[in-house]
Amino acid sequence: MSPDAVQILRHRWPEARPRIALVLGSGWAALADAVQDAQRLPYAALPGFPAPGVQGHQAELVWGRLGGQEVALLTGRQHAYETGAVDGMKGAIRCLRQWGCELLIQTNAAGSLRPDMPAGSLMLIADHLNLSQHSPLTGETGSARFVNMGNAYDSALRAQVRQLAQGAQAPLFEGVYAWFLGPQFETPAEIRMLARLGADAVGMSTVPETILARHAGMRVLAFSLLTNMAAGLSDEVLSHAHTLSQAAAASERASGLLYDVVSRLKL
Ligand code: HPA
Repeated sequence: MSPDAVQILRHRWPEARPRIALVLGSGWAALADAVQDAQRLPYAALPGFPAPGVQGHQAELVWGRLGGQEVALLTGRQHAYETGAVDGMKGAIRCLRQWGCELLIQTNAAGSLRPDMPAGSLMLIADHLNLSQHSPLTGETGSARFVNMGNAYDSALRAQVRQLAQGAQAPLFEGVYAWFLGPQFETPAEIRMLARLGADAVGMSTVPETILARHAGMRVLAFSLLTNMAAGLSDEVLSHAHTLSQAAAASERASGLLYDVVSRLKL
């Protein structure tokens, strides 16, 4: 039998013991450059890992340190809109758990539904809305599949993050993230609906990986970089190019905040 991804990682880096895994979405790529003593492996070398295809996303696992914290960092994710499958990150998340990671920190770009949370803001995800009702756990067996999502975005760790972010230059918002499958942006009517349902931000990722991580027994934290006001809430014309340019403008600040938080976080 050919080796699985975790065997490959253990063989390649026998001394590695990362407890924190990170997934970088649009706008957060600068964090990969901040990893100290970085060692890299392309996803293509890791069975079960995806081959992301979105401009602005890469496909490498980076092992190293952020300050005093040993981390495993994924530079890109597969999205449901690429293949129709919502479990594209299943192999990667389960491998990270088997490798010893206890916490998954996710990042993404999202649209803001809150007038007081302008483009360029950062938001800690407090909870999510899965209106698609698709699950990456479809087909799983056994009682473990009935995952408790009551504290999906770990409240104790969020309290720490709020404390650690207090000294940062810009406020860290906190709110509910609604997952839409995309790849089309939402209509203004959809955004009005989401606002009434309690969403603060909308995006096309993160939720399936949170479900996978909770199922695997990991704690989860997630951060959104708000690249735009959601459809109908401003005069901007939404496009991927616009997302990427806004993401690039806020990238240093977003990555700086996450570096500060991760390097001081206590598990
Ligand atoms: N909607 C969905 N996904 C997004 C958006 C948005 O407005 N901005 C960045 N990612």
